[in-house]
Amino acid sequence: MAAVAHVSAKPFFVRNLLDDPGQVVALLEANAPNTPLGGWLWPGADPDAPNRPMWFQNDWVQGELRVPGAELFLFHEEVTAAARRFYEAEVVVPHTLYVNVMGPTHRCGPAHTDNPVFQGRNRQNTPMMLLRIMSASGLFEPWTIPQATSIWWMNDVEGGGLRYWPNGPGEAPERVYGDMANVALVGDNHGMFHQVEAVGNLGEASPRVSGRAELGPASDGGADWGVVDQGRVVYRAPLEAFRVSVLWKAHVYADAADQARREADLLSLEAVAEIFAEDLQARGSDLRLDLDRLEDMSQFAALAAVYPEPTPIGAGRSFFDPEP
Ligand SMILES: [Fe+2]
Repeated sequence: MAAVAHVSAKPFFVRNLLDDPGQVVALLEANAPNTPLGGWLWPGADPDAPNRPMWFQNDWVQGELRVPGAELFLFHEEVTAAARRFYEAEVVVPHTLYVNVMGPTHRCGPAHTDNPVFQGRNRQNTPMMLLRIMSASGLFEPWTIPQATSIWWMNDVEGGGLRYWPNGPGEAPERVYGDMANVALVGDNHGMFHQVEAVGNLGEASPRVSGRAELGPASDGGADWGVVDQGRVVYRAPLEAFRVSVLWKAHVYADAADQARREADLLSLEAVAEIFAEDLQARGSDLRLDLDRLEDMSQFAALAAVYPEPTPIGAGRSFFDPEP
């Protein structure tokens, strides 16, 4: 059986989300610096080499972490209501909030779905590659926790639109660009492919940074924000020139009984290996998930070849694509 792509309904736009978007600037300042996008995307990359675009992140709510002021988004009534409407579900449990801050980038981000979450298995206890393969395989639907997501944009910048595939990866994408300030897109970014378009107008001249770079208010006290990479300022600009988006995620359950039933059924790594083994055997494959080699990327590459992720049509060239 081919891997099945999750096809979402169209997301909702919520306009004028915040009464005072300036509160987000205060959150950004209080929680700086921001660090480059997840290292798991660059497995084995030299952490000192300038090999990444200026795409920075910071967690505001994650696990035990909840930065002061995060309530601004976390329990936002309109977002929560939109999530309930999107899923026709009663229970929406917000659990994650983070910010993306992007300087000029030479290309689009990757067209992707967000990393999946399963009852008992998440990025804290399971390699990200394995979580993605589990999702692509379609074998773990009973443990998949449906996720509602919101992307809120602080400002309009040059470039930085969003391409998204509400009709699935096999249909042409839709696009939002312009009039994005203080607007949120509420839907399911775990099921729906989406892609940030290139930011700014520097093209290939956009500076690249290493995994050790940091983005924060310029140290000279001016209004600029700066990217400092191993002691050197590689880029600076007013905060308004950076593309700032705040990402919200929530678990979704049909009702309290559904939540209780699902939360009681945690997926163990041993069960993951057994479920894969059963399916691989049925496919006539000798491949097995070896739980003693969870650091070994080559076994994930082999599994991903059996359970590939779909490639959406009409995606822009990403900074992960090979050079022509
Ligand atoms: Fe995403």
